[in-house]
Amino acid sequence: MPLANGFLTPDQFAGEYFFDLAAGACPRCRHVQLVEQPERERMFHDRYPFFTASSTRMAAHFERLAGEIGASYLPAADPFVVEIGSNDGTFLRHFAQSGIRHLGIEPSASVAQVATALGVNTDCRFFDAALASEVIAAHGQAHAVIAANALSHISNPGAVVEGIKALLAPGGVCIVEDPYWGDVVEQTAFDQIYDEHASYFSVASVQYLFGQFDLAVFDLQRQPVHGGSVRYLIGHAGQHEVSARVSQGLAQEEATGLHRPEIRAAFQDRVTAAGRDLMALLGDLKRQGKRVVGYGATSKSTTTINHFGMTADLVPFICDTTPAKHGTFTPGAHIPVRSHDEFAAAYPDRALLFLWNHAAEVLAKERAFTAGGGKWIVYVPRVGEL
Ligand code: TMP
Repeated sequence: MPLANGFLTPDQFAGEYFFDLAAGACPRCRHVQLVEQPERERMFHDRYPFFTASSTRMAAHFERLAGEIGASYLPAADPFVVEIGSNDGTFLRHFAQSGIRHLGIEPSASVAQVATALGVNTDCRFFDAALASEVIAAHGQAHAVIAANALSHISNPGAVVEGIKALLAPGGVCIVEDPYWGDVVEQTAFDQIYDEHASYFSVASVQYLFGQFDLAVFDLQRQPVHGGSVRYLIGHAGQHEVSARVSQGLAQEEATGLHRPEIRAAFQDRVTAAGRDLMALLGDLKRQGKRVVGYGATSKSTTTINHFGMTADLVPFICDTTPAKHGTFTPGAHIPVRSHDEFAAAYPDRALLFLWNHAAEVLAKERAFTAGGGKWIVYVPRVGEL
């Protein structure tokens, strides 16, 4: 597999980086993670192209979270909020605007610069225990530490959790939110597996990971974003009342067999079947002379395209709203990425929805496409047309 966000230009084709993408599971601590992980600097750098604000739904989601934290978890006097993986400042700007002390830690300069321009205090480095000590020395401990879609991107989560343990003030809350492994398996959302997702968390594995540092998960909330996520509320062990939702979450994972090898084998079989069905559908459409355009040059699409062997022959281009991706080619298969205008200028017969996790948002704004007879091709949780 190539890098999921490694959109490139023809002069870079020859030197493209590939690695073996495979997830492994630990039978003891339940952690699921990539066996081989590309160096982090290959993925998170000054050209990192993912901007949280590109989804209005995610922006609204983080505005709500900022409101909840402000209302429930911050002390009245001089609160301090830290976000790990603060991207373009979509979440922290709500604190910046209210004059609340905050700091974003974000190693990708492309997105960190946007946050800084919005007035969000941003430190453009990778977070770990050493950086946590620097933050404490400069600002003191934090009352809320947020890592949303960040911890799963980090290949050494232990170093991050060690830093969180030091950084979190007594009684403080750490909020971790990431795609849920239970949903990946249940929905056959295989395309969540790519280089940037180093870990695939479950309640059991998060509890084990934080427990090693004397931190405890005290509540859980399911979140209908990124194809199904869980928000874990974590504090110093013994400092928060533990909700029954935690033991219920663990019990459900046992009941569904989430951590059992045969459940993973069945998941793998469903992925193979999805590939067969999707490629057969695209082949049929081509034979019928139908035009298919990809919708959303997502990181997830890199797994779908390359794992199933999709080419520009079947999907001549993919439209996307991120200007930085326009004129580039997708990693591995080198399918051209074009602006959304090109999709709207001449609607195809089918749009292959690589953005299935934003389906509600996309279908609502693309009514003109469907009104004109266009159809969506989806493949999670199963291959079909909408
Ligand atoms: P991601 O799945 O890797 O986060 O990438 C999402 C991509 O989809 C990003 O490049 C922005 C693009 N996008 C659209 O083209 N249209 C949309 O409506 C949304 C929400 C995102």
